[in-house]
Amino acid sequence: MPPLPVNPDLSIKPEVEGFFDEGTNTISYLVKDPGSEACAVVDSVMDLDYAAGRITYDHADRLIARIRERGLRLEWLIETHVHADHLSAAPYIQERLGGRIGIGSKIKVVQETFGKIFNEGTEFQRDGSQFDRLFEDGDSYAIGGMTAHALLTPGHTPACMTHVIGDAAFVGDTLFMPDGGSARADFPGADAGALYDSIQRVLSLPDETRLFMCHDYGPNGREIRWETTVGEERAHNIHVGGGRSREDFVRMREERDRTLAMPKLILPSLQVNMRAGEIPTDPSGRPMLKVPVNGL
Ligand SMILES: [Fe+2]
Repeated sequence: MPPLPVNPDLSIKPEVEGFFDEGTNTISYLVKDPGSEACAVVDSVMDLDYAAGRITYDHADRLIARIRERGLRLEWLIETHVHADHLSAAPYIQERLGGRIGIGSKIKVVQETFGKIFNEGTEFQRDGSQFDRLFEDGDSYAIGGMTAHALLTPGHTPACMTHVIGDAAFVGDTLFMPDGGSARADFPGADAGALYDSIQRVLSLPDETRLFMCHDYGPNGREIRWETTVGEERAHNIHVGGGRSREDFVRMREERDRTLAMPKLILPSLQVNMRAGEIPTDPSGRPMLKVPVNGL
């Protein structure tokens, strides 16, 4: 992978608030420009009771209420990747507060893969056009006066990106907290070797860079946490810390992935998230989700 295409300005320190979703162990972020009222939301969550087929918006409503309470202007809704364990609430939030929905341009690969698995017809566009912006590696965009950078970090999925905003980086599922290691790399299109390379990319940011996780499961009974630093991860991450080799990592990751069950919400998550958070409809226009039998 090419060297880091970004040169983050560590003097910019965005204000970051994490919103933990207990149902899916996801952390959504509100990221505010310290110099203006502009903000972005990273990885929002829509609540799904899958057994009942019922969608609600408690988590997203908390974010919306907070943005309104602080009088902020929402400019971006960022998806670090197509999540397989929770549904995005980006369109719901966008309808209420505006902003543009952005994801990595490799979403097209993900749409191609899952378009086949879910046997989507030609009406399902596989060109990323459901999103307002597709980021290429190294692309930048503005949040108020801040410049944010999108960094391609594939492995967990082919379209994963890390968003670097001043001294903060939102890593999606590329890394977990040091005692959590890394995310799985066994979904269709995933690649453990690519994940290792992507992690090295993130760890080549300056040591003091703040890292914000998309998930935390509180390993060994500790309380939920979501913020660490590049220096901490480099020294202590249980999967890649202390200079673990690529070969070792790939062996460990692949062995471990063979033992993991599918996330409970993978089927609805993929169908919704590959459409930028829109719920698919049946031919009569009713919201409907599919279960491909032995399809994954
Ligand atoms: Fe994920």
